[in-house]
Amino acid sequence: MPGELAPLAQAFFAANPELSLQALGSGVHVPSLDLAPSGIPVTHLLAEHNAELARQYLTLNQLAFGGIGVPRWVLSDLYLLPGAIGLLRCPARLLKAPARERLLLADEELAIGAACYVAPSLTPGLFVGVSLFSFLPGRGASSWVKTLTLGMVRAKFLRGVTQWDNPAVRVHTRLGPMRLVGRVPGGHDYDERTFVYETDLRDEARVAQAMARGEEQVPAMRIPVTDLAALGALLDRAEAGARLELVPPGQDAGHVLVRELRG
Ligand SMILES: CC(C)(COP(=O)(O)OP(=O)(O)OC[C@H]1O[C@@H](n2cnc3c(N)ncnc32)[C@H](O)[C@@H]1OP(=O)(O)O)[C@@H](O)C(=O)NCCC(=O)NCCS
Repeated sequence: MPGELAPLAQAFFAANPELSLQALGSGVHVPSLDLAPSGIPVTHLLAEHNAELARQYLTLNQLAFGGIGVPRWVLSDLYLLPGAIGLLRCPARLLKAPARERLLLADEELAIGAACYVAPSLTPGLFVGVSLFSFLPGRGASSWVKTLTLGMVRAKFLRGVTQWDNPAVRVHTRLGPMRLVGRVPGGHDYDERTFVYETDLRDEARVAQAMARGEEQVPAMRIPVTDLAALGALLDRAEAGARLELVPPGQDAGHVLVRELRG
């Protein structure tokens, strides 16, 4: 039964009537998905029969992430075979310039405007945030494609990787506080400013409150996103068991907003 997120999701699509929610993945997983997360219908497209859409996803992922964009075999083996990518589709004319030019679509042809892939993990209910991008700025498109994709796969917890100075921190805190987990297992191309966080998705009312930026303002430490010594020390403490989190909105004027939970 749709819960607290449903009216917010409906309001998002009412304000953006040209967007629709779709998924691209292997047919075998369809019975495991919720194809109406927060009451929003998802059109599932079989990856086996939609090679052109997969190619479009590959192009946009590589444009969004540059040198660390997804290689084709990883898209097949680690995205489309084990799971499903959540997509917001829209007429190509709505995409911002580099994406629009790269895809060479006619104005009214359907394009991927924003996409989210979260990978299943060995721990039941825990998914790993792998790729989130949007070429539809100023609409909250990435926070909605992320929230609805997590609903579609029935995630209870999300672990993700991001950078202190990435504008995406504001997007991630639309789903609630980001508990600091530590450094990236195996390292990262941007190691010095990258961290792992966890979001608890079990309480839908809490997620809805964060989506609406309705969370109570809580006192938080403000640490410059460039103070890598102080931020690295936070990760040391998180790895040692301290309960530290980025509180919504996560970033403000070049600072991250950090709170320590006691007890
Ligand atoms: C990060 C990204 C997904 C955001 O896309 P989007 O949802 O279309 O972005 P929006 O314009 O709706 O903005 C989302 C939030 O980020 C903030 N933001 C966006 N661009 C920003 C910038 N350059 N500097 C600071 N904040 C910015 C917005 O103010 C908004 O905050 P709010 O939710 O508190 O209002 C998109 O820029 C992207 O695809 N980046 C490249 C790939 C990437 O880094 N992905 C994240 C990996 S962790």
